[in-house]
Amino acid sequence: MTDFHSHVIPRVDDGSRSSAMSIEMLKAMKSQGLSTVCCTPHYYASQYSPEHFLKMRDSAFEHLLKKLPEDLKDISLLPGAEVLYFPGMAEAEELESLCIEGTDLFLLEMPFRKWSEREINEVFALLRSGRFKIILAHTERYFYYQKDPQLFRELQSEGMVLQSNAGFFLNWKTKHKAVKLLNDGFVDIISTDTHNTEDRPPNMEAALALIERKCGKDEADSLIKDGDALLARHINAD
Ligand SMILES: [Fe+2]
Repeated sequence: MTDFHSHVIPRVDDGSRSSAMSIEMLKAMKSQGLSTVCCTPHYYASQYSPEHFLKMRDSAFEHLLKKLPEDLKDISLLPGAEVLYFPGMAEAEELESLCIEGTDLFLLEMPFRKWSEREINEVFALLRSGRFKIILAHTERYFYYQKDPQLFRELQSEGMVLQSNAGFFLNWKTKHKAVKLLNDGFVDIISTDTHNTEDRPPNMEAALALIERKCGKDEADSLIKDGDALLARHINAD
C-alpha cells in the first residue's frame, strides 16, 4: 500500500521534529500495511528556490536513512514535496525537480480560499502541459471554498488525481462529508498527511476500516489498489 503524502522527514517543515519521531511514524505506517511512503515536506516558493529546498530535504532524508533500524529497511521511502501554488508556476522550469523521486507525480497544494480565475487557469495549463501527473493534496479542504463541485470534475477529467486525507474520514465532524465525497467519486486516493506521532499520527488503517464499514470492503480495497496502480504507472517515468 502506498502513502503519497506525509511529513516524515525530520526538521524540514512542520512535520516530524526528530529522527526518533520519524522512526515511530514509520513503524506505525509499516504496521498499518504501508510499503511505500512518499515523503513530501512543504515547499513554499516564497521561502526557497527548488535547489535550496532539495539540498535541505536531501540532507535531512539521508540523515534519517542512516538512523533507520533494520526492520524498517523494507519500506520504500520516496522523497518528494508538497508544492504550494505560486503565481507563475505554470511557466517555472524547475518544477520537475519537485516531483516524487523516480516518478513524474507532482503533489500540489492550493490556497485555502476561493481560487481566482488566474489560479484556476494556471492549474489547467499545468495539467494540459503533460509535464507531470498532478495529485491535488487534501482535496476536501478546498471544497468549502470553491462551492461548485463541477470544478473538481473538470480537474479530474484533465487527469488530476484527487487525494483526501485519512483523517478526513476519522474526524466526527467531517466523516459524513468524507463518505459522501467518496461515494460521489471525488476521492481518487487517500493518504495519511501525517505530521507527527501526537495529533497527526499515521492513520491509514483506521480510515480504511471506517470506509470498509460505511462503503464496503470492495471500496476500501479499490482505494488501496488504485493508489498502488497509480504509483506503478508513474514510477521510473521520464
Ligand atoms: Fe501535507
